Amino acid sequence: MSNLSTAIIGCGVIGRTHVEAVLQLADRLTLTALVDVSTERAEELADVVEESTGARPGVYATVQELVASDAPQLVVVATPSGLHVEQAVVALEAGAHVLIEKPLDVDLVRARRLADAAAAAAARGQVCSVISQHRFDPSSQIVHAAIADGGFGRVTSGVATVPWWRSQDYYDSGDWRGTWALDGGGALMNQGVHTVDLLLWFLGRPVTVSAEIALLAHEGVEVEDTAVATLTFDSGALAVLHATTAGYPGLSVRLQVLGSDGSAVIDGDALQYIHLRKDADAAAGAYGGGGNQADRYSVEPPAGVDATQFSFGHVRQYFDLLDAIDEGREPLLTVEQALLALAAVRAVYVSAVLGRKVRIDDVIAGEYDDLVLEVPSIEVPAV
Ligand SMILES: NC(=O)c1ccc[n+]([C@@H]2O[C@H](COP(=O)([O-])OP(=O)(O)OC[C@H]3O[C@@H](n4cnc5c(N)ncnc54)[C@H](O)[C@@H]3O)[C@@H](O)[C@H]2O)c1
Repeated sequence: MSNLSTAIIGCGVIGRTHVEAVLQLADRLTLTALVDVSTERAEELADVVEESTGARPGVYATVQELVASDAPQLVVVATPSGLHVEQAVVALEAGAHVLIEKPLDVDLVRARRLADAAAAAAARGQVCSVISQHRFDPSSQIVHAAIADGGFGRVTSGVATVPWWRSQDYYDSGDWRGTWALDGGGALMNQGVHTVDLLLWFLGRPVTVSAEIALLAHEGVEVEDTAVATLTFDSGALAVLHATTAGYPGLSVRLQVLGSDGSAVIDGDALQYIHLRKDADAAAGAYGGGGNQADRYSVEPPAGVDATQFSFGHVRQYFDLLDAIDEGREPLLTVEQALLALAAVRAVYVSAVLGRKVRIDDVIAGEYDDLVLEVPSIEVPAV
């Protein structure tokens, strides 16, 4: 088992989560560099790391400076979403394994470029993966395994809702937030993409999308704060998707999966309910109570890992990435899968802008690459 020198690009909210995760994995990763256009922010985080480990990571302003001066074996990209591919490609070409924060990027032209770069890097033994930490929740793992095992029979439908609230201050907290160019969308792209990825992981390849988006409770934001969509899948399954950052005070993310032989509900990351016909006696109601911390972390955390930290989901994904590197296999989250989730989100926007159903494969093939995205204005009757 190797110990990899690791650099983190982007020292903001999620960059700190990655620092926490890397420090928890000290026997497999060593944090050697921090990169941020705000070198002040990177230096502050370097202070925290030095206090904790006694070793100070190098600080750089750009990914180009990083690869010129340091040769990290793993590079983590945690910058605004529209910068992900540009930075990941530099790191891959410098020979590093790469872990990219979600979403893969906001632009499909760049995402396809990354897919090519990742495939070329894979041939050289490098691994590239994209964060979707909720795939590693015990609840998601149990539902996915039961579907793969045939326990749901034919999966017939899914209902996914991300009913959150984000304040105006949240959108005002970074120039990039709420912009098409760097956030790539609003409630669905930024907050909802985790749930889109889970929906696709459970239901399979999406075929068409019909959607509406709106901006209803925020100002000075280009993107949507509310999105609704219906999706069809190549298996014949249907799904309903809802994401909002305009639902004060915010409720828990809920994902229902229904099949001819079983159904499950994941609520707030916990398995709230699962009932499979094949083992109805054993499983009926077994998870009926769900939703508390103990259920959420019902799978034993690895030794030395603090399961109460927000970074725990990330730590689980790091284990998969590191095992993929050691075993020379694909990670659970491949670039192709992240590209599909990105295309599904883009398809929602394309459908809402054009006012008609769109095919995901056309979105992936580039048919709408030049379409300018905007939130359609809705005639709201005066109260
Ligand atoms: N997996 C999750 O649960 C999760 C949660 C939050 C954010 N994210 C993702 O993480 C990414 C960052 O989000 P955040 O909330 O941490 O944003 P943030 O604004 O808090 O941090 C972004 C950091 O990147 C830096 N930066 C900007 N341009 C740069 C450049 N060219 N080179 C180097 N650094 C640069 C900024 O100075 C800032 O410190 C986004 O893609 C977001 O979708 C994921």
